Amino acid sequence: MLKVKSIYLESAGNIRVKEVDYPEKKTNEALIKVESLGICGSDIGAYRGVNPLVSYPRIIGHEVVGTIIEGGEGLPDTIRPGDRVIVDPYIYCGNCYPCSIGRTNCCEHLQVIGVHINGGMREIFAHPAKLLHKVPTGIPLAAIPLAEPLTIALHALHRTRLSAGEHVVIMGAGAIGLLAAQAALHYKAIPILIDIVQQRLDYAASIGIKHTINPSSQNGKEIIDQITLGRMAEVVIEASGANIAIKEALAYVSFAGRIALTGWPKAETSLPTNIITLKEIDIRGSRTSAGEFPEALDLIEKGIIAADTIISKTILLEEIPLAIKDLSENPGRYLKINAVVQ
Ligand SMILES: NC(=O)c1ccc[n+]([C@@H]2O[C@H](COP(=O)([O-])OP(=O)(O)OC[C@H]3O[C@@H](n4cnc5c(N)ncnc54)[C@H](O)[C@@H]3O)[C@@H](O)[C@H]2O)c1
Ligand SMILES: [Zn+2]
Ligand SMILES: [Zn+2]
Repeated sequence: MLKVKSIYLESAGNIRVKEVDYPEKKTNEALIKVESLGICGSDIGAYRGVNPLVSYPRIIGHEVVGTIIEGGEGLPDTIRPGDRVIVDPYIYCGNCYPCSIGRTNCCEHLQVIGVHINGGMREIFAHPAKLLHKVPTGIPLAAIPLAEPLTIALHALHRTRLSAGEHVVIMGAGAIGLLAAQAALHYKAIPILIDIVQQRLDYAASIGIKHTINPSSQNGKEIIDQITLGRMAEVVIEASGANIAIKEALAYVSFAGRIALTGWPKAETSLPTNIITLKEIDIRGSRTSAGEFPEALDLIEKGIIAADTIISKTILLEEIPLAIKDLSENPGRYLKINAVVQ
């Protein structure tokens, strides 16, 4: 039997390159030659054993780009063998209540590749053909996987219906927060980015985010009050996952404001719900994405999202286990590491 290289988590903390069977494609799947991959926070979570949704052993990876070797039922008409595609990694059932109203991202039986089932960090990969998006030519290969986290950032902006002229406080200047801030600028909104790591804020400033706040040395509420001339932010995107940041979102948002919760906190957050009533705040969860891939690819193609400024380094498939250990031990060192497959 032909074998292909994969990035394999035998168990939490035990990661290596492993040869696995060449995938057998089902009729509704397309076979893909993988060309580039993104390493995501959730891959690190799987490695560390802190993501309760991950079962082991597991081939990780859900930010996957490649070319079609063979199509399958449901492949969009625009895609032919040889075309470059990005994988929409959220496999939905199509039958449950959220699926029936088009909210496939919160399917009751959602399976995320690399989390619930084996993922795309391998040389050849089979994926539902309907969940593929054609990649425009002209985006550098290593930058394309960034479209996946960008869909998550865009989904949060869409969930809050962010519009031009509004202030949007973004908590967390990680990959998701920085992408959300760049997209907010494109929407002609005014992003205010908050993080406790100064280096990340300095970086954000260097890519054009004018307003940044470090709550460990600055008073966030006062600064937002000044920037918004007393109104506070019409929109807050929580993209840190820190319990304290979720609570602060209630203080930073305006009366009649909207909050999207994208971060995955590891513990419960206690909130003064009287503030939600008092300000009549709309709080919305924001999970993965639904329909945002074409917009994400377009923004990267046009250079509106400067992908190369988010990617700290590009490595080879075989180097992923080491990079994951490095990211796990030094979480602040890199924003995003992507890999190419040779
Ligand atoms: N909803 C989804 O579908 C989805 C998808 C991907 C990631 N996420 C979650 O979104 C969050 C962001 O993802 P990421 O990849 O950018 O993570 P990241 O770890 O790169 O970024 C998080 C940032 O938050 C900052 N932070 C920590 N405490 C803070 C505080 N009190 N105030 C402000 N900032 C603080 C950190 O310094 C870091 O820069 C994570 O919680 C992740 O699990 C959610
Ligand atoms: Zn991801
Ligand atoms: Zn469903």
